[in-house]
Amino acid sequence: MITFFLFLPIQILAFTYEQQQQLISDDVDFYLDYNSGNIFDYAFTEMIGQGAFSEVYLGYRVEDQQPVVLKHIKGSRERVVNREIQILKALQGLPNIVQIIDAIKGDEEESDDFFEYGFDNQNQETPQMETKKSPHKEDHIEATIIFAYQNTTRCLDDIRKSGNYSLQQVKNYFKQIFTALNKAHELHIMHRDIKGSNVLVDDNDDIILIDWGLSQFYDQGRKQSTKMGTRYYKAPELLLKYKEYDYSIDIWAVGCMLADFIFKTHPLLPGKDNDDQLKKIISMLGTNDLFEYIRKYNIELDLDEIPQVQERLDFTKLINKKNLNLVTKEGIDLLEKIFIYDHKLRINASQALEHAFFL
Ligand SMILES: Nc1ncnc2c1ncn2[C@@H]1O[C@H](COP(=O)(O)OP(=O)(O)OP(=O)(O)O)[C@@H](O)[C@H]1O
Ligand SMILES: *[C@@H]1O[C@H](CO)[C@@H](O)[C@H](O)[C@H]1NC(C)=O
Ligand SMILES: *[C@@H]1O[C@H](CO)[C@@H](O)[C@H](O)[C@H]1NC(C)=O
Ligand SMILES: *[C@@H]1O[C@H](CO)[C@@H](O)[C@H](O)[C@H]1NC(C)=O
Repeated sequence: MITFFLFLPIQILAFTYEQQQQLISDDVDFYLDYNSGNIFDYAFTEMIGQGAFSEVYLGYRVEDQQPVVLKHIKGSRERVVNREIQILKALQGLPNIVQIIDAIKGDEEESDDFFEYGFDNQNQETPQMETKKSPHKEDHIEATIIFAYQNTTRCLDDIRKSGNYSLQQVKNYFKQIFTALNKAHELHIMHRDIKGSNVLVDDNDDIILIDWGLSQFYDQGRKQSTKMGTRYYKAPELLLKYKEYDYSIDIWAVGCMLADFIFKTHPLLPGKDNDDQLKKIISMLGTNDLFEYIRKYNIELDLDEIPQVQERLDFTKLINKKNLNLVTKEGIDLLEKIFIYDHKLRINASQALEHAFFL
């Protein structure tokens, strides 16, 4: 084993002999019961991204040179890391979803040394994520998740920003997104952070859904944190702090992305904070349906001011010269079925795939 990785200069530079010994020890608690679980099976070549609590590297599997992505999580709660891995494992083999290859748990010093290799931090926008608060140190662990590499530098946001896409492409992208979500939701998994930067698009316009770090299993009746996701894409139930939400929060977020593509808006609902986000939603969907919704679910409405808009917005009002070639009756109908307060009445992923928009 040792002689094997002696031939890999990148890794040798990163470790002292003691650390190598530790890393290849058979300590069962140290590795997940998962695939090889050995960091030396992989080499990294360059950093491709940096989030608040992780660094993402491009690399390859030593055995067969298969390109991989190494997501090095630096100090996240063990429970949370385990959940991400468990969910990624459940999603193995499913279409349009990033594929986990391996997962390696390690303590801080060792993995730090493996990855501290003098890269300049890339200037990546830190996502605005309420859940990624500064964590307590004690129960925090380091881990590296290895993914199959998707050879692309584009995400769905890049395509939206370019403005260079056809209705046919929009249908293709969103069909793939709903395909991924349908499979995840069937397995009772909610992604909880659906947004354009978490949808990678390759040169063939094939997409994969990434970043399952906030995802969670849905358990009927269980109360979940509503401080999830990214503001512009938050469903009304999250903003109303209704804790028994389900998969339909993902569908709402897809609706926000789809509307941006079809109407060339961004963001469709530009809330300045969570309360303002809710006000933007109320301005779109009106108060009539809102009051009915909060009565039905016994939700308390805690806003300083409620927009004086009774009726739902007629989406055809958003049609203009710039989006004329993208708006269709079917597109608007699909959005109408997504943008519904009552999460139980919202269209789900499998129903969306059957919708006329995709036929
Ligand atoms: N399988 C993959 N193939 C290619 N690139 C990937 C892959 N997975 C992740 N990336 C790249 O790495 C970046 C970060 O990945 P990911 O979102 O999973 O990590 P993260 O630390 O949760 O990021 P963030 O904090 O930005 O949400 C992605 O935006 C993407 O550019
Ligand atoms: C990614 O694709 C480009 C262009 O198609 C190719 O040159 C490159 O070798 C690919 N990279 C990997 C790691 O497969
Ligand atoms: C727009 O997209 C088309 C098809 O994907 C491509 O051929 C063309 O070069 C793009 N135009 C610009 C300005 O990027
Ligand atoms: C969507 O709703 C249909 C009809 O109620 C149901 O049969 C199906 O299982 C649901 N699918 C998902 C992915 O939730």
